[in-house]
Parts: sequence; structure tokens; C-alpha cells
Amino acid sequence: HRVVENVLQTLGERPESVTDRPATGDELRSLRGRIDDHNRPRYHLTPPANWLNDPNGLVEWNGRYHVFYQYNPAGPFHGTIHWGHAVSDDLVHWEDEPIALSPDPDGPDRDGCWSGCTVVDDGTPTFVYTGGRGGRQLPCLATADDDSLRTWTKDPANPVIEEVPVEIDVLASEEWHAEFRDHCVWKDGEFWYQVIGSGISEVGGTVLLYRSRDLQEWTYLGPILTGAWEGAGAMWECPELLDLGETQLLHVSNYADVLYFLGDLSDGRFHVDERDLLDYGDFYAPQSMTTESGRELTFGWLPEARSERAQWDAGWSGALSLPRELAVEDGTLRQRPAPEVRDLRGEHTARTDLVVDGETALDVSGTALELDLTVDVTDAASFALVVRESPDGEERTPVRYDADAGELVVDRSASSLDVETTRDEQRMPVDVEETLSLRVFVDGSVVEVFAEERRCLTSRIYPTRADSDGVSLEAEGGEAVVESLDVWELGDAWETDAAAPDAT
Ligand code: FRU
Repeated sequence: HRVVENVLQTLGERPESVTDRPATGDELRSLRGRIDDHNRPRYHLTPPANWLNDPNGLVEWNGRYHVFYQYNPAGPFHGTIHWGHAVSDDLVHWEDEPIALSPDPDGPDRDGCWSGCTVVDDGTPTFVYTGGRGGRQLPCLATADDDSLRTWTKDPANPVIEEVPVEIDVLASEEWHAEFRDHCVWKDGEFWYQVIGSGISEVGGTVLLYRSRDLQEWTYLGPILTGAWEGAGAMWECPELLDLGETQLLHVSNYADVLYFLGDLSDGRFHVDERDLLDYGDFYAPQSMTTESGRELTFGWLPEARSERAQWDAGWSGALSLPRELAVEDGTLRQRPAPEVRDLRGEHTARTDLVVDGETALDVSGTALELDLTVDVTDAASFALVVRESPDGEERTPVRYDADAGELVVDRSASSLDVETTRDEQRMPVDVEETLSLRVFVDGSVVEVFAEERRCLTSRIYPTRADSDGVSLEAEGGEAVVESLDVWELGDAWETDAAAPDAT
């Protein structure tokens, strides 16, 4: 199979395109075991090999959690996008499933099956996704053949919307007649609604609303929000609207960041009360799964921050964030890792009342860790948890609280000796009264930080050495008191069976 050859020839020529139906689930599983890269995450979702971007079609179905994702089986680069598939019974242990959707050389999705969602239509799980073909991006449907959600049948009526709205001047590019893609669909009473990501020329990114009785015929209702302010971005991808009890949350991805808005959709407009970023680091195009118990679990794509060549050499690209529970409490957005993530916890180390002044080494190490801390920072100018530190200290990544700026900083200037990795600092505001509370997840090249159960900053880092696995603390300009520090080694999400069938 092509997909197998391609991962084995990671240093070879880049194939132009692959449209033949690729591998079985077993073959994909055996690919996973062949990747040898100490920076590959072990408990975050990754593709078995090759390329992953956005999470798609997230659904809990028959008690199992299904994650689909933008997948290129031809290599670790973006192109010929299929939908990859992983399944889990507990949200933390995952198994690779066969590819769910592939571009059809004769179909409206010839150039790619792009992002979209799953809805359940009269008991049948149905994908609403973007088909790309010849400069056009249009919505398509596919229905599940059975409860395993392994195989899907495309709707012969695709695309179900044939033109972009004429009422607005939809943004175009050299490659695309119109930027018009990504779908979030829900049912209210007898109607289906969907929002689609787009942009209005010379104005800004926008979210377009449609209505339908049957998912087939859609009526355009207009833009619900348009980013006409400085920095909003010209194009908004992957819009998603969520009900969070007392309020609604709308988020969009503007090629750089994920903007979210709290407010409500009424009279065809989204009225914004508050806006912020969903994550201040390497996190993009998130999508949420509404579980049968009514939780919203959000997964985002964690794009790479190393060179294309390094991705090619590694044989894989892209990871998904941990599932995050979103909730609005007292008018503020809360983000927490799904409680199930605790099920991965193994060996535990705990410290209390540790005074840090200057540098303090810790006798814990690892590249797959959870570190939870509560730190009294009243007297210190800065406090840092340093992760993935090499024995000689040359490689290290401080997650630093900067009291003057009131910010949390992930300082990547010494994260890697490889000069082709991104080294800039990533910063986000934190509201600290006396104590700072952090949950930090280190997983190979992923550092995913939850601060104050509120804001998140996810960074990608690439230490060159597998023994860059040390952890230390440091405080400057006064002492910091670590009231509690808990460190757990976290287990693997994937079973990589050395005896998996040999696919060559
Ligand atoms: C976001 C995105 C989507 C598109 C998909 C293509 O990362 O560009 O807008 O549907 O990825 O892979």
C-alpha cells in the first residue's frame, strides 16, 4: 500500500498526490509502531504516521468516543486531505481506525475532504464537510454505514450548497474563487442550522448562517458576526457555536489565533459580551464533542513548530490537544482538562511548602508528565517551572510567571539546540492574586499549560536529546513558596504492539 511505502521513504521524493484508497486499520496501527522520535507525544492524539491537522466530526456514538481528523496519508505535509479516525472507550486510550473519508477523483471533494462535523439525522450519523475541487469549496454530506463509524457513503446530491451567497462579496484568493468552508451544524425545533467560515472582501473574517429542513436544501440567512476590527483577520476558518448553559460561545480561527466570543445568537446576529483567545500558543482550529452526558469537550490541532524537513524526517506531523472541558462560571470561561486524563496517572511525587530562591533542582524527570502546582508568588519578581532540561542545562524550557507583566511566558529560546525550531516566547495574561495555580502537561514536543483553570497556552518544543527530561524550579527577585507540587508520570494513549502485523 502507498501509505506504508510513503512513511518508509520519509527522506524520499514527495509524491504529488495520492487518491487511491489507502490502508486498513491494522496497517495504520503498524505504522504507528515504526515511528522513532523521542519528541513524539505519547498521550496526546497523533496520526499513526504522516500528516494531521484539524479535529473533525467529533462524536460520542454508542458509548464510544470518535475523533476524526484532517489526514494526509501521502506524507507528513498538508495535501490530499482525507479524514483519519481514532476511537476510544475512555477518552484517554485510543486506537487507530481505517481512513473514514477519501477524496473522490470524480467528486466535488477531488482536491480534499476538509473540515466539518458529525450530526445525527434521524438516528444516522452524518458528516457535513467541505469538498474542495477546482477552486471551489462547497459543503458535502456522508452517512455512516454502520455503528462502527468505519465506513461512510457520500450523498449523491453533493455538494448540497452549490454557490456562495451573492448578497456579500466573499473573499477570494489566487487559488480559490471563494473562501467558504468548515461546518458546525445543529438542530433547533424542526430546522437544522449551520455556520460556515468565510470572509467579506475588504471587511474581515465572517461567520455565515444557513437554515434547512432536511440537510439537503439550505437557505442563506446572513453573517452572524464579521471581524471588522483591527487584527480580526481577513478570513475566519472553523467556526463553532456552543451552548454553555447561561451563555453561548462562538469561536473562529483566523490563520493565527483562535478567537472566542461569549454572548448569544439572536435575531440572526451573534451579540458579543466578551472576547479573548482560547489558547495563547500553538493551538488552532478546535472542535468540540457534546457528550451524551452534556459536557463540551474541545480538542484543538497543535501544529508543529519545527522545519518541514524535520517533519519529513520524523515521518509524522501534528497532534491534538487534550480534551478540554469548557464551561462558563460567573460569566467567565473556564477551561480544564477532562477529568478522565487522571486515569493516565502513574508514579507520583509530591512536595509541599518548598521555598524557591534562585534555582532548585527536583528529583523528578520525564518526557510524559503532569505537573500541578500552587505557588505563592507575592514576594518574587518571577517564578518558573523548567521542563525538558538537559543534564548540562543547555536545553531547557521555562514556564515562567512574570509578576511585572502579569503574564505567563513559555520561553523557547533554549528549548532546542536545533536552530530550525521556533524559538519565540509565547505569552498570556494571568490574573494572580497571591497564588498562581498551574497544571502543566509535558508530552514529548507538547507543553500544554492550564492556568487558573481559565486560560491555556500550548507550546511545541523539540529538545535534540532524549535525556533533556529534567525538571527544576527557579525564582528571581525574591522567594516564591511552592505550597504544593504534584508530579505524575502519565501512561501511553496508544498500544504500539511490536508484534503488529508487518504491512510491507
Ligand atoms: C484549518 C483549515 C480549514 C480547512 C482545513 C483543510 O486548519 O484550513 O479551514 O477545512 O484546514 O485541511
